[in-house]
Amino acid sequence: MSYGDVNIIAMAGKGGTGKTTITALLIKYLVESNLTPVLAVDADANANLNELLGLQVDVTLGEIRDKMKTETPQGMTKNEFMEIHINQAVIEAKGFDLLVMGQPEGPGCYCMANSILAQVMERLSKNYRYLLVDNEAGMEHLSRLNLRKINTLFVISDPSSRGVLTAARIADLTKALQVQVGQKVLIVNRVPEPLPESLDQHVKDAVEKTDLVFGGYLPASQEIFQKEMAQESLLELSSETPVVKKAFDIFKRFIS
Ligand SMILES: Nc1ncnc2c1ncn2[C@@H]1O[C@H](COP(=O)(O)OP(=O)(O)OP(=O)(O)O)[C@@H](O)[C@H]1O
Ligand SMILES: [Mg+2]
Repeated sequence: MSYGDVNIIAMAGKGGTGKTTITALLIKYLVESNLTPVLAVDADANANLNELLGLQVDVTLGEIRDKMKTETPQGMTKNEFMEIHINQAVIEAKGFDLLVMGQPEGPGCYCMANSILAQVMERLSKNYRYLLVDNEAGMEHLSRLNLRKINTLFVISDPSSRGVLTAARIADLTKALQVQVGQKVLIVNRVPEPLPESLDQHVKDAVEKTDLVFGGYLPASQEIFQKEMAQESLLELSSETPVVKKAFDIFKRFIS
């Protein structure tokens, strides 16, 4: 199975490092650069990307998959059911769509259901130029979606020695997944000013030891903090905001 020509970008990194925040900034970048249409997939069981984008979720893909298991009418294949209902889960916004995967499956066998879900996702992705996947720390959803390739994996780290080591470990762990990764790009987020020299050294060590390339540093941002507190969309951040400028510089270099 293949996802055709769609350019797939995924996030990895331990909890709370900024994967969802950076996904929102990446959506902003792609939309403002007219690199559309974009499908963003929230693959976190505790979905919250929609909140950073100011969007409301009515139904998740997981809920539709569960309905398919029990509610497919006679005379209709499960595949047809999924095909018809998937559109309900696609939230349409300006320049991009959002799909929320929702809670993982309960007990029982979901191999068949997940395989149908992957087929439907594959067909859906053909309508888009970019497919962004915001993961939770573990990357179970990647196998659920049956992604065989990821063009760019952003590995997000906090600004600490152990954080950077963890990012290096995550980069190595992805080798065990059945996913071909084009490039793995390290982003160190919430970096204090001035940049601590020792952090720079840890980053150099991590890049040397792994197949990570260094994307850049993103500053700890008062503007992100304020948006988050006011529960406002990060899409509304001004392009003059330092963190937005820095993030866009990185995206420009690694996303084509
Ligand atoms: N550069 C930044 N400046 C200020 N605050 C930030 C920055 N990046 C992220 N944050 C804040 O840090 C918190 C965690 O960020 P976020 O939710 O993006 O992390 P995550 O990696 O997606 O977490 P999880 O693993 O739980 O999904 C949020 O409150 C977010 O607003
Ligand atoms: Mg998140």
